[in-house]
Amino acid sequence: MQFLKKNIENLVAALALFLFSAVACQEKEDPAPQKPTGRFPLEKILYFGNATVPADNPLTYEGIDLGRFLFYDTRLSENNSISCASCHAQELAFTDGKAQSVGLRGEKTQFGASSLVNLLWQSRMMWDGRAQDLRHQVLMPIQDPIEMSQTLAQTVEKLTQTDLYPAKFEAAFGTKEITPEKISKALSQFLLTLVSKDSKYDRFKRGEYQPTASELRGIQLFFTHPEPERGIRGGNCGDCHLGDLTSGSPFEFEGFHNNGLEPDPTLALGLQRVTNLAADRGKFKTPSLRNIALTAPYMHDGRFQTLEEVIEHYDSGIQHSTTLSPLIIEASNEIITDFSAPIRLHLTPQEKQDILNFLHLLTDSTFIQNPAYQNPFE
Ligand code: HEC
Ligand code: HEC
Repeated sequence: MQFLKKNIENLVAALALFLFSAVACQEKEDPAPQKPTGRFPLEKILYFGNATVPADNPLTYEGIDLGRFLFYDTRLSENNSISCASCHAQELAFTDGKAQSVGLRGEKTQFGASSLVNLLWQSRMMWDGRAQDLRHQVLMPIQDPIEMSQTLAQTVEKLTQTDLYPAKFEAAFGTKEITPEKISKALSQFLLTLVSKDSKYDRFKRGEYQPTASELRGIQLFFTHPEPERGIRGGNCGDCHLGDLTSGSPFEFEGFHNNGLEPDPTLALGLQRVTNLAADRGKFKTPSLRNIALTAPYMHDGRFQTLEEVIEHYDSGIQHSTTLSPLIIEASNEIITDFSAPIRLHLTPQEKQDILNFLHLLTDSTFIQNPAYQNPFE
């Protein structure tokens, strides 16, 4: 009997302890984690140094959230069949793997879909520079007859009729009213948060990854302009694909170059379409090479299937033309004696492999898996 009593006492004590800890646990979990609101802390993404966010469109959690819904919404296309993400898929670093994209009625676009990354540090948009900035760019695919083919008035009308959007526009911009300007502001806010900063190359820069010997040589070659007179070997890439961002200069048209894809008779219009200057014929926007291993095929027209082909192009495939970049003309790893000879970098097979290995260092699996960029409708 004494034994039983003792046991019951133990049981009561254990039960009390259990109840107490259950309450304690609940107190720890409660209140539920609040969704952050208001001003988005820019320093979270200002990794490559300062960039200017337009003063009249500060990033907010609500604006970014709205932009993300719009980016993944097929109601932005006339027949509700495609969204921005149809041509800019996260797993392909926001490209679509095609030489030319396919619009809402199956027609092909003129150029291949650009990767959307680190746009905070770029200004002119589109391969030929025809969008003066991101805010103007994001409304172009909606209205483009081949891409989404919908007027801005239709877009506003469709979004206003949903249950979802009026409240989201109110949360982001203070009133339920939907306007093209608010659509473009929200879309650009979301796109500005697409920052790739966790590739092996970034980890190396932060002292968290030790590159192989070949990768180290690749980094060196990529960023070095060759000077054969002084015994300095280089791949010359960093002359145009600048710094850790590997994209072109953000100053007006400075980042647009003719990188030797065609000779004069077949040279594409490129930047000349925007500036009307013959000197800009065949010049295209220098793209970022971040996640480049995921974004084949390459160049504005997707002419190269592999990075090996791209490197071979720069080494031995350069076509001479009147607007060919001077940065390419004077880059060679052998002293140039005959200036009428074809332009060649003269890299060794090992050096080409080293540069290729560097390009693979720019793949950022955190970026392509980041939940903040995923489809919010799923
Ligand atoms: C039918 C496919 C398609 C759809 C849909 C599409 N895009 Fe694109 N996007 C492209 C193509 C192709 C390019 C390159 C166009 C060019 O340079 O002429 C591009 C370029 C861009 C660029 C320029 C990037 C740079 O570095 O210059 C941005 C930004 C962009 N798209 C955002 C969007 C947004 C936002 C949407 C939805 C509103 C969208 N795209 C819908 C195919 C598409
Ligand atoms: C004179 C400036 C210049 C130099 C030097 C240069 N590039 Fe480029 N690069 C460009 C431009 C401009 C484009 C886009 C051209 C186009 O599509 O018409 C480009 C495109 C590319 C692409 C394709 C990107 C894509 O998204 O399709 C890769 C890859 C690339 N370059 C790698 C390199 C490598 C590697 C080197 C060094 C061996 C190099 N580049 C040297 C200007 C340059």
